[in-house]
Amino acid sequence: MARPKIALIGAGQIGGTLAHLAAMKELGDVVLFDIAEGTPEGKALDIAESGPAEGFDAHLKGTSDYADIAGADVCIVTAGVPRKPGMSRDDLLGINLKVMKAVGEGIAANAPNAFVICITNPLDAMVWALREFSGLPHEKVCGMAGVLDSARFRHFLSLEFGVSMKDVSAFVLGGHGDTMVPLTRYSTVAGIPLPDLIDMGWTTKDKIDAIVQRTRDGGAEIVGLLKTGSAFYAPATSAIEMAEAYLKDQKRVLPCAAWCDGVLGLKGLYVGVPTVIGAGGIERIVDIKMTKDEQSMFNSSVDAVRGLVDACKGIDDSLA
Ligand code: APR
Repeated sequence: MARPKIALIGAGQIGGTLAHLAAMKELGDVVLFDIAEGTPEGKALDIAESGPAEGFDAHLKGTSDYADIAGADVCIVTAGVPRKPGMSRDDLLGINLKVMKAVGEGIAANAPNAFVICITNPLDAMVWALREFSGLPHEKVCGMAGVLDSARFRHFLSLEFGVSMKDVSAFVLGGHGDTMVPLTRYSTVAGIPLPDLIDMGWTTKDKIDAIVQRTRDGGAEIVGLLKTGSAFYAPATSAIEMAEAYLKDQKRVLPCAAWCDGVLGLKGLYVGVPTVIGAGGIERIVDIKMTKDEQSMFNSSVDAVRGLVDACKGIDDSLA
């Protein structure tokens, strides 16, 4: 059987890391696409040359021609510009919206059956625009944010408790980053919810609140340190986890920006929710009941996403 084909639209920091991870995990053959002349070809060749030592079997190709993504099973989109210090994700809206138009049309014409994972920021609005421009089914287009936000949360919690990250699970909802809604009562260490761990004296509410804030600011913390770009290792790893769930029909329960229509009280909006990812794409959205406080945080997050979607409609008439 032929290997799956993974198209990476954008061969920058995240795109290159995605290609390296996809090859090392032998998820399939990789096509790196970018408009920057020579970049996708150079990265594809460099990664291919790591194959003999690493021992993977995967073909890598760099290109600036959309025809080369033909028939891709998965497309992961990072095309666009990342944040610079002092910029919010929302500052990227106008530039990256134009990029989503080109990418959406390229995917629709060449890989209409792909499972599409958008990473480009501002994530929740860009994944909506990408779906609109591509016209693909909603369940085949999603955004990577929740896996990363929950990974950051899990990492910080594991440091606080001095336990393995493997034994910490976290549950997040809502938009990416600043408006992320952590559900502490569903976040656990070996099944013990955070509020119980506070009662047990393992930590304090203040410490958990500080960790939640650090998680929300997780992207900005890295932008501030790097100064010339934004995070790329953890974002790439998170998207690969989603791609693998689709390609291997794993039915993983992963939080991601998914189309919510008739769930969580929403009528047609991309926002971060727990989902089941398998061969059908986003196969199910876990429609949980929120407490009053959680619902109010979620509503603010939803309002922020709606504001960005409206801003997109204001910029590009074809979306209105
Ligand atoms: N088509 C294809 N590629 C494009 C296009 C386009 N229209 N416009 C820009 N690109 C490419 C750039 O040439 C660059 O190589 O997208 C790549 C983006 O890579 P980086 O600048 O290194 O950004 P990266 O760190 O990978 O982040 C990409 O993901 O997390 C988000 O906020 C981040 O929106 C940003 C995106």
